[in-house]
Amino acid sequence: MEINYDTGKIVVAGGRRLSGTVRISGAKNAALVLICAATMATEPVILENVPDISDIHVLVRILSEIGLEVSWPAPGTLAVCATTAPQLPPPYQLVKKLRASNLLLGPLLARFGQAQVSLPGGCNIGVRPMDLHFKGLAALGADIRMEKGTVLASAGRLRGARIYLDFPSVGATENIMMAACLAEGQTILENVAKEPEIVDLANFLNCLGARVRGAGTDVIKIEGTDRLGGCLRYNVIPDRIEAGTYMIAAAATRGSVHLSGVISRHLEPLCAKLREAGVSVTEDEESVLVEGGGNYRPIDIKTLPYPGFPTDLQSQMMAFLSTVPGISLITENIFENRYRVADELARMGARIKVEGRLAVIEGVPALQGTQVRASDLRAGAALIIAGLMAQGRTEIYNPGYIFRGYHDIIGKLRALGAEISFQDE
Ligand code: EPZ
Repeated sequence: MEINYDTGKIVVAGGRRLSGTVRISGAKNAALVLICAATMATEPVILENVPDISDIHVLVRILSEIGLEVSWPAPGTLAVCATTAPQLPPPYQLVKKLRASNLLLGPLLARFGQAQVSLPGGCNIGVRPMDLHFKGLAALGADIRMEKGTVLASAGRLRGARIYLDFPSVGATENIMMAACLAEGQTILENVAKEPEIVDLANFLNCLGARVRGAGTDVIKIEGTDRLGGCLRYNVIPDRIEAGTYMIAAAATRGSVHLSGVISRHLEPLCAKLREAGVSVTEDEESVLVEGGGNYRPIDIKTLPYPGFPTDLQSQMMAFLSTVPGISLITENIFENRYRVADELARMGARIKVEGRLAVIEGVPALQGTQVRASDLRAGAALIIAGLMAQGRTEIYNPGYIFRGYHDIIGKLRALGAEISFQDE
């Protein structure tokens, strides 16, 4: 029987220190874009370390609905074979569930000369326009039109161009980079996003036979090619946001947690902030040990594009800082509406004042368990951390948001000693 995660609740009994080892899964935000990029390959592609989360399953369903061959030869291993032209448009009922389906725009346009994706519209964390995507693809020669909430893109052979991004958007960098791989001539993309997921995408594209240079720096150069081949084994990078979530949970419960299967370099912005707050963090290349306890200090956080502090860990840090004595400050520079969790934390006794992009957090001695509601993926993760810290029992509604981006979070937390369960209603 299929469980409907939108109706159930997650129940957490707080007050236990987390301890033990947790293995980190493949990165949601890398796997999603790699699966989209795989639609440009003219031969089969096998991706490994693909996380078992609902966002991935929605994307896989979209690909099979538009007539592409997708299968799971083994758990965590996804095979994609895009030898036939897709039947567009993808079903609205599916694309409206997954904003990241807009990452199909560049690949389908470049490979098949046309693409249709649903204009995602805003979500709970912000307006999130796609103007930078459209500007970049138009610079490559695409014709982009909107019709009844659908983006219709078409082009003959795309042509390389020099493109400057007004903001280092992750999605726009990814869409333009993918499209430019099949354009004629060279593309120079400036002021681009430098996130590890961008570097993973460039490595994957080069595995398919593309010529992408400079990913991870401010300027990416792409020499276009006529076709991309296949790739029979590509490992998705570990999820730095999932890892960060467990690190913050370890600090918040004053526990001791060892994370394996990470790339600790990707976690530097968080390690620095946890240390500043008085948490002990020990790293080696592929693992991190977080040991909580002692006197914590208030800190200031500003979210920024990578390598700045990631916005996707901001809510989780807010939960942690809600019981750190003193005044901590958070400035959210990426999304204009990413403080909705503050109201739910206030229901648990937190003292947080939000003014525009600034949140002022006055640490309280303890949180109290109660009923709260997740408004998005990372807010949901923050409420789990708050529940683990709180006195008593916390019930978290809208758990579907959390299962979108965390592989087996209940099982992993239980293995670390948490008292947590999912209750279907
Ligand atoms: C990616 O979203 C991630 N999603 C987000 O993770 C993450 O928060 C975000 O990057 C920032 O790191 C995926 O990779 C699937 P952006 P994306 O384009 O690509 C503005 C999570 O929790 N902007 O870098 O949509 C935009 O409104 C999710 O896993 C424009 O103005 O982010 C935002 O304010 C949430 N015009 C800012 O840039 C554009 O054309 C950053 O957006 C594009 C973006």
